[in-house]
Amino acid sequence: MDINTPRLLPIISTLVLILVSVSSFASASLKVGFYASTCPSAEEIVRSAVNKAISQNAGIAAGLIRMHFHDCFVRGCDASVLLASTPGNPAERDHFANNPSLRGFEVIEDAKAQLEAACPQTVSCADILALAARDSALKVGGINYDVPTGRRDGRVSIADEAAQNLPAPTLSADELVSRFSRKGLSGDEMVTLSGAHSIGVSHCSAFSKRLYSFNDTFTQDPSMDSSYAETLKANCPAPPSISDPTVSLDPSTPIRLDTKYYDGLINHRGLLTSDQTLFNSQSTREMVLTNANDAAGWSHKFGKAMVQMGSIEVLTDSNGEIRNHCTFVN
Ligand code: HEM
Ligand SMILES: *[C@@H]1O[C@H](CO)[C@@H](O)[C@H](O)[C@H]1NC(C)=O
Repeated sequence: MDINTPRLLPIISTLVLILVSVSSFASASLKVGFYASTCPSAEEIVRSAVNKAISQNAGIAAGLIRMHFHDCFVRGCDASVLLASTPGNPAERDHFANNPSLRGFEVIEDAKAQLEAACPQTVSCADILALAARDSALKVGGINYDVPTGRRDGRVSIADEAAQNLPAPTLSADELVSRFSRKGLSGDEMVTLSGAHSIGVSHCSAFSKRLYSFNDTFTQDPSMDSSYAETLKANCPAPPSISDPTVSLDPSTPIRLDTKYYDGLINHRGLLTSDQTLFNSQSTREMVLTNANDAAGWSHKFGKAMVQMGSIEVLTDSNGEIRNHCTFVN
C-alpha cells in the first residue's frame, strides 16, 4: 500500500485531468465572444440592424425575441425556424404557430447580408437570432446580458415539429412546466420567460374562446376581469370570423419589456389562458408575485433564462453548417 501510493498518484491524477477536460470540452462549446477574432464586428453589426428596425417599428423587438424562442424549442437553436419550405416539405416557419404571426425575418436577413460582406461564411444564423433577441431585450427593456455564441445552423426544418414542440396558448401551468422541463428549463424559468408577453401582440384567435365560448356554463372565462373582456370583445370579432386582428399582450406597457405583465396577471388581465394560469395555479403563483414585486430581480433572471434557452440542443464544432443565406441550406 505504502509502496504503491507514489506510483498510483500520477496515474490517478492523469485520469482525473482527462475526465475534467473531457467534461469541460463538452459543455464549453458556446462561449461569449466566439467571433472576437474571426469577425470582431459581428455583435455590433447585429445590434445596429436590430436597433434600426426597432426604431422604425417597436413591435419588431417582440418578433425577434419570440423568433429565438420558436427556433430553440424546435430542433434546438439551429435557425431551423428561418428555412423556407421546399416542394413536399412544409417548413417550421409555415406552420400555423409561426405563419402569419412570426415577424422580423427581414431584420435577420439584413444583419446576415452585412455579416457576409464583412466576414464571409463565419457567423451562423442561429447566433444572429440569439444576439438579435438580446439586443431587442436591451432596446425595449434595458435588459443586458452576454450571449454565448458558436452555434451552427441546421439543415432540416419540418412544420409538424413546430406543432409538437411549441406550447399552445390553452395549456395549464402544469402542462407548461412539463413542456419547458422537456427542454431543460425549470418552472421558474418558464414563468420568467413568459414575462416576454410584456411586449408584442396576439391575434384574437389565440384567446377568443375566452371571450365568446368558454364552456357549457360560462360564455366568458370567469378567470378574466370582465371589463377587460369587454374591451377585448370590442376589438376581437366572435368566431367564426374571417378577420383576425391583433391586440397587445400587455396593454399597460405594450412596447416596454417589464414586470407590468405580472401585475396584469394578478389583476386577472392575462390575455392568454397560458398567461392567466400562471397566477391561478398554486404551483406558479408565488413566482408571479415574486416577479411582480422585484423588477430588477426579474430582469436579471430573464437574461439568465434567455441564455439557458439559447443553449437548447445547439449544434457546435463540426456539426451543421454556416449558412450563406439564412432562408436556405447551403
Ligand atoms: C409559456 C408558453 C408560451 C405560449 C403558450 C406562448 C404563446 C404565444 C402566443 C399564442 C402568442 C401570440 C401570437 C400571435 O397570435 O400573434 C405569443 C406572442 C409572443 N410570445 Fe409567446 N408563448 C409562450 C412563451 C413565450 C416565451 C418563452 C417567449 C420568449 C422568451 C415568448 C415571446 C413572445 C412574444 C415577444 C410575443 C409577441 C410577438 C409579436 O408581437 O410579434 N413567448 N406567444
Ligand atoms: C366551466 O368553467 C368553470 C370555471 O372554470 C368550471 O368551474 C366549470 O366546471 C366548467 N363547466 C363545464 C361544464 O366544463
